[in-house]
Amino acid sequence: MNMEEVSSSLQTFPAKRLEGKVAIITGGASGIGRATAKIFARYGAKVVVADVQDHLGHSLVESSNQTIWFIHCDVTKDDEVKNLVDTVVSEHGKLDIMFSNAGILDNFSPSILTVDAEDLKNVFGVNVFGAFFCAKHAARVMIPARRGSIIFTSSSVSEVAGVSPHIYTSTKHALVGLTKNLCVELGQYGIRVNCVSPHAIQTPIYEAIPLDDETTNRLVAETSVLKGVTLETDDVGEIVVFLGSDESKYVSGVNLLIDGGYSTTNPSLGVALANALTNPS
Ligand SMILES: NC(=O)c1ccc[n+]([C@@H]2O[C@H](COP(=O)([O-])OP(=O)(O)OC[C@H]3O[C@@H](n4cnc5c(N)ncnc54)[C@H](O)[C@@H]3O)[C@@H](O)[C@H]2O)c1
Repeated sequence: MNMEEVSSSLQTFPAKRLEGKVAIITGGASGIGRATAKIFARYGAKVVVADVQDHLGHSLVESSNQTIWFIHCDVTKDDEVKNLVDTVVSEHGKLDIMFSNAGILDNFSPSILTVDAEDLKNVFGVNVFGAFFCAKHAARVMIPARRGSIIFTSSSVSEVAGVSPHIYTSTKHALVGLTKNLCVELGQYGIRVNCVSPHAIQTPIYEAIPLDDETTNRLVAETSVLKGVTLETDDVGEIVVFLGSDESKYVSGVNLLIDGGYSTTNPSLGVALANALTNPS
């Protein structure tokens, strides 16, 4: 093969950055998890998607050419997550990457005074209890192997206050705490623990919000720090590949913001000053 052919084959086939790795992706039937599953498979991983949306999970498997498998799993249930991890280890021999990504929004209670106990329980059930069960069972099989990468999906609201309601925001803060604490406990076994914190991306999670996609995208673009680019699910997937692969072998305990710098700033005083200078009273 001459240099030209080598270069063109490299362009055709993406580097197998996850070759030989076995991964679980929870919430992998839709949105960020679905995009990440496809990218993981493209980079050579065996991917097991775990979700409660069976029809979406099966459709992903059918289009995957035997690189993605689906297991029904409700992450709020300790025994279902245990079964998920045990099935993956028995069928694929090991678990290298746990991407604990399943998550739901709360019912947008605007005030602490109207927070509903059932909503609180449901959202903590999926976003926090689910992450604990995923970490617990992943660690159980990763500790004897003395390797592994656990990644949670937090959110930019783990860094910026006042953007989303209290319940959802609190769950995403909890994941950052879990990431850091767990990185200390599991570091002695060679296991890395990180989380990704994306800013807003148009996915089915927003279906309950009565705003059309165009309006949501416009509002996000108008308030973004980084202009001219739109965050997409694949962008998150590529970062998760990095955290799951050996390229990040010394990265642990990190909350990796994928927000174009949004969380670094609070523009409210700047906007107020600009308004006052433009319209002096
Ligand atoms: N879209 C965004 O703007 C955004 C931004 C920051 C963080 N996130 C987080 O990203 C993650 C993925 O969200 P998304 O935007 O892809 O939304 P999504 O709704 O497309 O995907 C979430 C998936 O989680 C699954 N799920 C829900 N409850 C479950 C349960 N009990 N057990 C197993 N699976 C369950 C859903 O069926 C769905 O497939 C969530 O944790 C979300 O909080 C999303």
